Amino acid sequence: MLKHLNILIIFIFFISSSLLKAQDIQWEEIAPGVWKTTVGQPDEYDLLKASDVPPKWDALKKRKGGDFPFDISEFKAEVSGDNTHLRLPLEVEEQIFGFGLNFKTVHQRGQILQLHVDHYGGRDNGRTHAPVPLYISSLGYGVFVNSARYIDVYAGTAARKDSDQAPEARDRNTDRNWTSRPYSDAVEMLVQSKGVEVYVFAGPTPLEAMSRYNLFTGGGPLPPRWGLGFTQRVHKLFTADQVIEEAKTFEEKGFPLDFIGLEPGWQSKSYPNTFVWDEERFPEPEAFLNELKDIGVRVNLWVNPFVSPESPVYKKILPYTGTHTVWAGIVPDFTIKETQDIFWDHFEKEHVGIGVSGYKIDEVDGYDRYLWPDVAKFPSGISAEQMRQTYGLLVQKQSAEIFRKNNQRTYGLVRASNGGGTSFPYVIYNDYYNHEDFITALINSSYSGVLWTPEARASKTAEEWLRRMQSVVFSPMAMINAWSSGTKPWSYPEVEKEVKDMALLRMQMMPYWYSEFAKYHFHGIPPIRGMDLEDGFSMNFEEKVLSDDDVDLEVNPYAEAVRKEIKDQYMTGEYLLVAPMFTGQTTRKVILPKGKWYDFYTGDFAGESEIITVTPGLDKIPVYVKNGAIIPFTDPILHAPKKGEKINIEFRFYGDKNGKYHLYDDDGETFDYENGDFSWREVQVVKQNNGKFKGSLSPAEKGKPDNLGKITWKFMTSQ
Ligand code: GAL
Repeated sequence: MLKHLNILIIFIFFISSSLLKAQDIQWEEIAPGVWKTTVGQPDEYDLLKASDVPPKWDALKKRKGGDFPFDISEFKAEVSGDNTHLRLPLEVEEQIFGFGLNFKTVHQRGQILQLHVDHYGGRDNGRTHAPVPLYISSLGYGVFVNSARYIDVYAGTAARKDSDQAPEARDRNTDRNWTSRPYSDAVEMLVQSKGVEVYVFAGPTPLEAMSRYNLFTGGGPLPPRWGLGFTQRVHKLFTADQVIEEAKTFEEKGFPLDFIGLEPGWQSKSYPNTFVWDEERFPEPEAFLNELKDIGVRVNLWVNPFVSPESPVYKKILPYTGTHTVWAGIVPDFTIKETQDIFWDHFEKEHVGIGVSGYKIDEVDGYDRYLWPDVAKFPSGISAEQMRQTYGLLVQKQSAEIFRKNNQRTYGLVRASNGGGTSFPYVIYNDYYNHEDFITALINSSYSGVLWTPEARASKTAEEWLRRMQSVVFSPMAMINAWSSGTKPWSYPEVEKEVKDMALLRMQMMPYWYSEFAKYHFHGIPPIRGMDLEDGFSMNFEEKVLSDDDVDLEVNPYAEAVRKEIKDQYMTGEYLLVAPMFTGQTTRKVILPKGKWYDFYTGDFAGESEIITVTPGLDKIPVYVKNGAIIPFTDPILHAPKKGEKINIEFRFYGDKNGKYHLYDDDGETFDYENGDFSWREVQVVKQNNGKFKGSLSPAEKGKPDNLGKITWKFMTSQ
């Protein structure tokens, strides 16, 4: 009897656990340099189904392919019961980046994470606003796991006894090379699902791999021009008159402003929300929106999707909501067509239809205490876990559709996203407020296919305010979020002029930001990039600039040396390296990758393949420009140019070698560019026989948009 039981157990073990060997795993090359495999039986609902965006096949197909980027036999997958285990190889010198919007770490090798949509809680443990299951390798490839489950990641932390490179046992008593982190040769993941799709993106460079992922998920969003201007969010109980007053004050004081954000108090009730204008604070919403638009300012509305019993959509939507409430509001199941119609039709009629330009979609990320628990049920049958992982994707996709239907682009804010969300016109923000960590998040956004804003709210000192505003200017959304503090850009008189100069610089650089976003959209190149996506940057630099802190083994026998990673400088657009300064800092180190680099403000030579130490003064954020760079500037305008409005361009040239730039142009507001209504203009600077540089600009193609006014040239570097 016992013998039979043993045989049965062994048999059950065999059918419930199947190690898929390399030969069982089929990789299909779905575009040059993009491979897909399906392990076991994946869930029907996943990240790509939730985001539902077609890949930019044309752009992907134009890319050069190549060999599968790592030893294909080193990919191992095992389906065991309800779990899928994945194992991917790691070379000794390999570093990995990504796994979503982390705030403290850039190097992910050595991290243990549970990828779980949540409000960031101060630790990089996988719980974050966009826990994208994507990593990019320093060896030039990317891996994406298409699952809407919480995923456990052991990123080079676990050592297997059957590994070819299993770590050697060392004696801690005597061997100084003993380490608490023995070598691990794999990224291992546990997905609680009977199967999963995995995608691999080839390089050869990390940037090439990242851009393939971005194109595969639809390419970056192309914001309207106004989205790249300045935005202020007003106090939550402001009235229409106060908002208009605020917009006028910006104008009078000469501060740029393109859109104003209204916080929860625009509604009759909030938390849970009615989605209805408050009659006292906003008695005539349409007239209010028009009055603002006349002075060049648009309106963005705060919402979270949790519906108040007093909302006009409540009764209709009730059958299509989950079992649990959030702040006593019902939770729409946005995977159902009826829900989408009821909910977004109201938004279209009551907001977008009368002139609202965008949304800030709050609290779709988490905080376990208020969000639905994992035991919740939704009428579609999608599990609570999958709903949580994808809720941010669903609201971004569906709200953006309203604007598309009206042939108007939008650019808004959201607190949760995930894999597949690259193309949505939303920027992530949160309630955390550490300036240094905000910059690390900017860097990490570039390895995750999402956008992030290091918003400024208020500051303890004028210095802090200016330093924060400087970072805001070099970010995807230049925002002051004064929903609680009521802070204005001029609230710190000691630095009012410096803040204003920065804000105007943001506007002057509008043609640059716009062209760089077009490159994100059409070519998948993120407008903000971590240094490791930059050619000519090497991790050896990091070793030189950072040294290990002493490890006190008395205090913690397993202590680890401090990581060597660069978390405080990044690239923005094709040519600019930004090195923010933080409160209390007067000097800092900046790593200049290969090639010559120039000071953004003076055009002077700054260094070449080296680490420089700079003391920029309070009014400057250190920015360096690549040799041969051409940066398009416009006038210090207070509002982004409207459709059809001409803009003057001053091309600033830096360095001592010929340069080229691609300047993008379209109407700046609609989706007509999708029908070919756009132009790329080639800008060139070439050294003449007399040793002087001369610039030229190609004409716009016949019938294509041409919004350029007066063109001038400025040669920043004296020869
Ligand atoms: C927070 C959000 C803030 C602000 C506030 C209003 O959750 O992150 O930016 O909008 O809600 O209640």
